[in-house]
Amino acid sequence: MQIAVIGTGYVGLVTGAGLADFGNDVTCVDIDVNKIEALKQGKIPIYEPGLDILVSKNVREQRLSFTTDLASSIRNARAIFIAVGTPPRPDGSADLRYVEDVARTIAKHMNGPKLVITKSTVPIGTGRMIEKIISETGPGHKASVVSNPEFLREGSAIEDFMKPDRLVIGASDQESVDLMKEIYAPLHSLEIPFVVTNVESSELIKYASNGFLATKISFINEIAVLCEKIGGDVHDVAIGMGLDSRIGPKFLQAGPGFGGSCFPKDTLAVADIARRYDYNFQIIEAVLRVNKEIKERMVVKVAEAMGEVDGKIVGVLGLAFKPETDDMRDSPTLPLIAGLQKQGAKIRAYDPQAMDNAKTMFENVEFCQDAYDCASGADALVIATEWNEFRALNLKRIKAALRQPLIIDLRNVYDPQRMKGEGFRYYSVGRAK
Ligand code: UDX
Ligand code: UDX
Repeated sequence: MQIAVIGTGYVGLVTGAGLADFGNDVTCVDIDVNKIEALKQGKIPIYEPGLDILVSKNVREQRLSFTTDLASSIRNARAIFIAVGTPPRPDGSADLRYVEDVARTIAKHMNGPKLVITKSTVPIGTGRMIEKIISETGPGHKASVVSNPEFLREGSAIEDFMKPDRLVIGASDQESVDLMKEIYAPLHSLEIPFVVTNVESSELIKYASNGFLATKISFINEIAVLCEKIGGDVHDVAIGMGLDSRIGPKFLQAGPGFGGSCFPKDTLAVADIARRYDYNFQIIEAVLRVNKEIKERMVVKVAEAMGEVDGKIVGVLGLAFKPETDDMRDSPTLPLIAGLQKQGAKIRAYDPQAMDNAKTMFENVEFCQDAYDCASGADALVIATEWNEFRALNLKRIKAALRQPLIIDLRNVYDPQRMKGEGFRYYSVGRAK
């Protein structure tokens, strides 16, 4: 099927390349000329493992192309995926101006019936809003709006796209459902469950899923605080909990709080949506409060471990909000570094992929070549993102590089007993000192 994907960010680009790999003819559109130029030259503007191979294969096989020409892409496409940004406004509500712009542009250029699919995370009711814009301002052709939320995790987005746990389709007529099954035919034959429901329920499934996952993380982060007070080990608690099939082992990894372009934004948005319907979503409000407090606690944890912070040097290993991505959006390292700098710390930092993005977000941070360079001359080393390369550090080299053998491990990468044996003062999250 002839498809246009509007927005070539983390989601749009993976979606476009994935749909092309499923045998569709896909045109990826963006307003960012530089991004499109880079893509035309085979350069991927984001770090996502495997994306470069998937894009180049489908470009070579002429199923995938890139353009800034939105009008012709709309005219040529039977199905149009909207994957433009839906950033949070200061009050937490989702900013839909880009989605509205795209809806108006579709109305302006559509030359026949179109399937319009929201891939971006959009508030409940956005599908109806798009339908309204197109029917009121369009030429009268049928525009069937479908909600098809993505559940991609950055760093494993290709795998999540190719083998999703489920495909959610929110539609109001059978023809739309049939067209979606045609677009996703390979998944249908792989027996991936298709959840077919109405548009509002589909929009809510995305928020409810992200909200619940964020709840799990804030829950285990509070359990970690409790463990530190009572002398428990949050790693063991998480294992003990996770073996209960009703709970499951995933998303019970205590850490410095959740970040990224989705959890913080989507939890804020669902709390805002509830408020608009005159309901106070207490659990999500609490999840947000806890996440903010956990991030603040990390500054205290490092400062207490160091004793004196003013004028001291702190090495920070990892800047991205999670490993296997270059994405710095809402990374817990942003408040961590700002908080330590406020107390007079001098920061050295290293991240395998996120440094280019990070350089636009920090002041007075010394960016280093590798973990050992980051540790050299530092009074403390903080592990903030669990990149694999930080799991296999040469601890003797680290110890020799540090001014004092102090490590604060915010991702519980190492074993406290082993670190004690290696002669470190070692602090972590939710595990007795
Ligand atoms: C976006 C949303 O932010 C997220 O909520 C949703 O879950 C998936 O889509 P992401 O791909 O990370 O996630 O967004 P971003 O990286 O900001 O990319 C959006 C792209 O849309 C950018 O490349 C931007 O240039 C483009 N865009 C934006 C357009 O092409 N047209 C517009 O009018 C606005
Ligand atoms: C998330 C959802 O998982 C995905 O389904 C949705 O489409 C987009 O948002 P993403 O934000 O890319 O994906 O990353 P994820 O792996 O979910 O991690 C989000 C944050 O939670 C990261 O900061 C991560 O460090 C943190 N996290 C995750 C924990 O602190 N503990 C965990 O156990 C899992």
